[in-house]
Amino acid sequence: MKKNQISLPVDDLPKEWYNILPDLPEPLPPPKEPEEGPSRLEFLGKTMTKECLSQESSTQRWIPIPEEIKELYIQAGRPRPLYRARRLEKYLKLRKTRLYYKREDLSPTGSHKTNTALAQAYFAAKEGKEMLVTETGAGQWGTALSHAARLVGLECVVFWVRSVYDWKADRLTLMQLLGARVNPSPSKQTRIGREILARNPNHQGSLGIAVSEGLEYAEKHEGSVYCLGSVLNHVLMHQTIIGLETIKQFELINDQPDLIVGCLGGGSNFGGIALPFIGDVLKKKRKCKFLAAQSMAAPSLLKGEYKYDFGDVGEHTPLMKMYTLGHKTEMVPIKADGLRYHAAAPIISLLRHHGMVDTVDYPTDEKTIFEAAKIFLQCEGWLIAPESSYAVRASIDEALKNEKMGQEKVICMNISGHGFLDIPAYREKISL
Ligand SMILES: Cc1ncc(COP(=O)(O)O)c(C=O)c1O
Repeated sequence: MKKNQISLPVDDLPKEWYNILPDLPEPLPPPKEPEEGPSRLEFLGKTMTKECLSQESSTQRWIPIPEEIKELYIQAGRPRPLYRARRLEKYLKLRKTRLYYKREDLSPTGSHKTNTALAQAYFAAKEGKEMLVTETGAGQWGTALSHAARLVGLECVVFWVRSVYDWKADRLTLMQLLGARVNPSPSKQTRIGREILARNPNHQGSLGIAVSEGLEYAEKHEGSVYCLGSVLNHVLMHQTIIGLETIKQFELINDQPDLIVGCLGGGSNFGGIALPFIGDVLKKKRKCKFLAAQSMAAPSLLKGEYKYDFGDVGEHTPLMKMYTLGHKTEMVPIKADGLRYHAAAPIISLLRHHGMVDTVDYPTDEKTIFEAAKIFLQCEGWLIAPESSYAVRASIDEALKNEKMGQEKVICMNISGHGFLDIPAYREKISL
């Protein structure tokens, strides 16, 4: 019998997160204050947990995962399996290329976002906070934080980009079942939301606006803490649990990836699977390449400039050095809304700047993306999130390219989420 599933026993759950900061090819440019206005660093200091702030700039390579978070990870189904995509290989008639996929879709809320949500919620509860506040684009992060808040006994308030809130009614219900208070963004709850709505009552929102609303709301509400679902160093570090498990899984089967592929919005699932492998490459312990799949709606790594920019439209965050399209850029709506962010995480941006991360972007009609998702469903049997379909598309394209070159190659993609709450997108994009 051919075994396509490579599982790790619960006792093999990684005990530490990997912090790549001390191993980067040059020190990460620190966040800085803009020339005008109040101190953004002080503002973040007031709205985030102390533990996450300290992890943000820590130079300790391995950060122990507290026992309670390991228990929460196991409760949420970790470690997650790695699969060999033999059925997809057969469909694509691959002879030289082996395909694998890591299963972040097997998560209670549907994506990798639980990996940092559970950690951030635990630290907030430990510091005596009562409420978690956040933004969400695709809704996956909002659901993950709602879930994490409930499990550690905190309240949760979510600002959700309106263009997505309006079509994901079932995901809204899931967040509400978990006890979260969810606002379509822009909303009347905040000054910036009210200003935007006064200019355009039908504004569709953006992740940058939702971040601004969340930060403003958290600042005004005593006992609350702001949690971010991507971009920041500590978020990527929590996500390294994905890559650390994957390394162990490849060791179990005596194989090694030559290429890691992930979709990239802010960079957390891509960083999660890639950073532990990149760390090994930097230490000259392995050879491997890395490919980030993006949408032409927000091709930050391809078309962005590597410079200091704000993380949100309302300019609440400090300036961070990133590949950015500009924090005020308006982006066309796409179904993979989680990829619609103006910049890539500072860590990923620095690695891109050093030529360690390649990128590819796909048209905003998402035709080829949903085709790839359908092929994946029909071959492998799993319905994946629109965002993850970019990783599948890019992996298929790379595999077919490789077949023409005739080299042995192993490609590993990260399936960042499931698509069960994205059925309306499938209905719209695929003629049945
Ligand atoms: C399923 C899924 N994958 C990927 C992403 C992109 O985010 P990131 O680049 O932080 O992984 C999102 C964001 O919402 C998502 O929901």
